[in-house]
Amino acid sequence: MNTYLLYSQIYVSLTSWRGKNLDKQDVQPLETIDIEQFQTDLISWFQKEQRELPWRKDKDPYKVWVSEIMLQQTRVDTVIPYFHRFLELFPEVKDLAQAEEDQVLKAWEGLGYYSRARNLQSAVKEVYEKYGGIVPNTPKEISSLKGVGPYTAGAILSIAYGIPEPAVDGNVMRVFSRILSIWDDIAKPSTRKVFETAVRELISHDNPSDFNQALMELGALICTPTSPSCLLCPVRDHCAAFHEGTQHELPIKTKNKKQKHVKMAAAILVNDKGEILIQKRPSKGLLANLWEFPNIESTISYVDEKALLEDRFASHYSGNVHLNRSIGQLEHVFSHLIWNINIYAGTIDDVSASELQNVKFVSIEELDQYAFPVPYQKMFRMYQLEKE
Ligand code: ADE
Repeated sequence: MNTYLLYSQIYVSLTSWRGKNLDKQDVQPLETIDIEQFQTDLISWFQKEQRELPWRKDKDPYKVWVSEIMLQQTRVDTVIPYFHRFLELFPEVKDLAQAEEDQVLKAWEGLGYYSRARNLQSAVKEVYEKYGGIVPNTPKEISSLKGVGPYTAGAILSIAYGIPEPAVDGNVMRVFSRILSIWDDIAKPSTRKVFETAVRELISHDNPSDFNQALMELGALICTPTSPSCLLCPVRDHCAAFHEGTQHELPIKTKNKKQKHVKMAAAILVNDKGEILIQKRPSKGLLANLWEFPNIESTISYVDEKALLEDRFASHYSGNVHLNRSIGQLEHVFSHLIWNINIYAGTIDDVSASELQNVKFVSIEELDQYAFPVPYQKMFRMYQLEKE
């Protein structure tokens, strides 16, 4: 492998190195890295030390795809039971392509970032219809599928098909910011390309699957964000940050914006048959197509809020609404939002509410069939505890 090529390609893509303008002498580590030795050290460590994870049992492209989508923004431990359940329900492309969206959202309930599930199903439908159920194996075709960005495309192509494509996510950027001493801000979307250029040069063409998975594993087990275990690292001899003692300064990552606080009020409304009113959220936007209890955004005091809710719900659901108690408050933190919800319980007569589109009255047992965002699951648990 031509190390000079690596050096020159990364040199052109880097914009800063330790905050200084780039100068050829500054990019020392790229010149000195022994690519073959690096690949051998990394891959043999992975082959010995890798965790046994369910999506590593076989390299079926559909399963790799499902796992990679679930693993975005979600921890391995959280994903494992979801992965098993999802594949029991939808073992093959055909099963997911033909499922009801509500069933898919139910299987995703609690994982968050539900657009991942909707996009996955829509892309899987395309694979079923356009590619006869075979996940495509070219960068162009796979990247055109909904929800398949450069990371996911690279992960599927390399892990399932053995194609040497980079799979660069935040963890891989952290690892290489240290190994190659790259000081670009990894919070900026444009920075990913710098790392992709580097990986294209470094990736093993004999075993791109283990190479990419080894980087993910190294990021998860050794090269962690705040306390990297450099003494256990299989590639520390190749690591610029280890030599310079800068591993705690890297990567450069500017903080994302503060979450916005939203005050809300929501209610469990029961009809005279003991059924509960639920409604489907709009098909676009936050938590699209999931189910919820009646709610509004509200910033007013308790006394006024209760009256306001009764009024709003009565006119919206065309029934008499009586909120007879407050059952507490809850907070739920999303990546960009914090919901503070005041929770009420009461009654509604359902003369015409049940005729509204996307509104249903369901028994407590039936509630289980609908996918609710976590804050509404918490709300229902509080309601049940309060009734006991
Ligand atoms: N994080 C993202 N993809 C992963 C994978 N395939 N294995 C473990 N952790 C991951």
